[in-house]
Amino acid sequence: MTDESPTPRTAAVIPAAGRGVRLGPGAPKALRTLNGTPILVHAVRAMAASNAVSLVVVVAPPDDTTSVKTLLTDLVLPDRTEVVVVPGGENRQESVRLGLDALPEDIGTVLVHDAARPLVPVDTVDAVIEAVREGAPAVVPALPLADTVKEVGPALREGGPQPVVATPERARLRAVQTPQGFDRATLLRAHRAIAAEGEGATDCAGLVERLGEPVVVVPGHEEAFKVTRPLDLVLAEAVLARRRANDGF
Ligand code: C5P
Repeated sequence: MTDESPTPRTAAVIPAAGRGVRLGPGAPKALRTLNGTPILVHAVRAMAASNAVSLVVVVAPPDDTTSVKTLLTDLVLPDRTEVVVVPGGENRQESVRLGLDALPEDIGTVLVHDAARPLVPVDTVDAVIEAVREGAPAVVPALPLADTVKEVGPALREGGPQPVVATPERARLRAVQTPQGFDRATLLRAHRAIAAEGEGATDCAGLVERLGEPVVVVPGHEEAFKVTRPLDLVLAEAVLARRRANDGF
């Protein structure tokens, strides 16, 4: 009886299995700390902050799955939020697929959120979920670019400068962030249709585009930046300090 079926729930899958090589040597990126708290914990809290999210699937570095489970067991989250930890794969796409495999049947909307974007505000998360619930099969938060972008070709001689081959019109470009939101069936179909090779896809929306399904953007947020390089850690700690100062008023 469709009338009696419960409303499909929303889950967030957090791929957190990357090594974070660009941050320099040390623990996997998701386990490095910002103001003493692991980046992953900030990211889980950011997803759990949305009233709509009742399940968070964390895809952990395979060697650190046990320590990630311990870390998250102690975490105080809203009563509605369940957390599941699964081991990740060789690249982001494979890690996301392993996270999707852990979803129960009653999940209708899936967010995929990089652990490396620990500070995304809840309003951005909710805007993505709302756009999916209103019927978009795939939604990405996006921002206009500050920099002009050039496409380059291979260097003409080994070690030589790379030639610029094109300059896409900046006003038409967007930098996309996460969480990206999906109708669950569409995302599963995209992951099944397009196998991960080499680095795999760097974002899930790209897989949906390759299926020929529409992907739309909603406004992203400057605080949803990805912690990639050492300077990003400094910026993230400054954002946290500003939030703490503002909360004090
Ligand atoms: O490397 P990049 O910054 O693009 O990674 C984006 C996200 O994908 C990160 O949160 C990272 O932990 C995750 N990832 C993963 N499994 C991999 C590689 C990256 O879950 N094998």
